[in-house]
Amino acid sequence: MHAMASLVASLSYIMTFRGRLMVDLGLPPIIGHRGARGLAPENTLSGLKAAFGQGVRYVEIDAKLTQDGVVILMHDETLDRTTNGSGAVAETPYALIHTLNAAKAFPDLAPEPPPTLVEVLELVQSVGGGINIEIKPCPGRERETAAAVIDVVRATWRQPILPLLSSFQRASLEACRDLAPDLPRGYLSEIEGEDWVAEAKSLGCTTLNLGWKMLTPAQVPGLIASGLPLLLWTVNEPEVARAFLAAGATAIITDRPDIVCA
Ligand code: G3P
Ligand code: MG
Repeated sequence: MHAMASLVASLSYIMTFRGRLMVDLGLPPIIGHRGARGLAPENTLSGLKAAFGQGVRYVEIDAKLTQDGVVILMHDETLDRTTNGSGAVAETPYALIHTLNAAKAFPDLAPEPPPTLVEVLELVQSVGGGINIEIKPCPGRERETAAAVIDVVRATWRQPILPLLSSFQRASLEACRDLAPDLPRGYLSEIEGEDWVAEAKSLGCTTLNLGWKMLTPAQVPGLIASGLPLLLWTVNEPEVARAFLAAGATAIITDRPDIVCA
């Protein structure tokens, strides 16, 4: 990188909010969900490329461990819905998972295996993009999955704006806090009536990642007054996206960046 560009990048990395130092998360208003799930196979390299093809430069994906500890992209605990395989991800070694087709939902597309997180981080960096890695552990592997994700990020990520690590699992967020306090953490919740801000702050999280159906736009100003950027999922209707972004939401995570961006 040119010396001046490097200086600007490092200065813009730290911003302030009401006098407090904040890490620049590089969050754009539109984030692709599982890549661009409405346009291409979820949690695949072609899905990420579909998101990038829509001008999206920040994606959310789900990270899980194979039986032998490889971090791959997979939403479900089993292989059945999204691949031509079957059985528990946690009981299947990577060598077998690598032979499967994760593009099953899009039969006109070329088959492709579930990608590793390493492959995904390299692809995202090749377009200068950003990523929200949702740690989606199989039960009992909450800390182990977080630790493996952190190892991959440490070994692979070279850009100044860091990946955002999020999880519904408190144990995974605690592991991230303990093992990698420098990596930003997102508090994921789908629990209505919970004090999301208090829960997020109790874990030292950097963002609130909430299901939009629990909220109205009128609640947004109160939430962002906490200083925590607010990411809402999964917003696939343009009018809903517009209303929440106009109310001050930081970003919406969408399956359909083609229509939500329009
Ligand atoms: O991270 C936002 C969203 O992906 C959480 O729900 O089930 O789609 O992973 P899910
Ligand atoms: Mg997810």
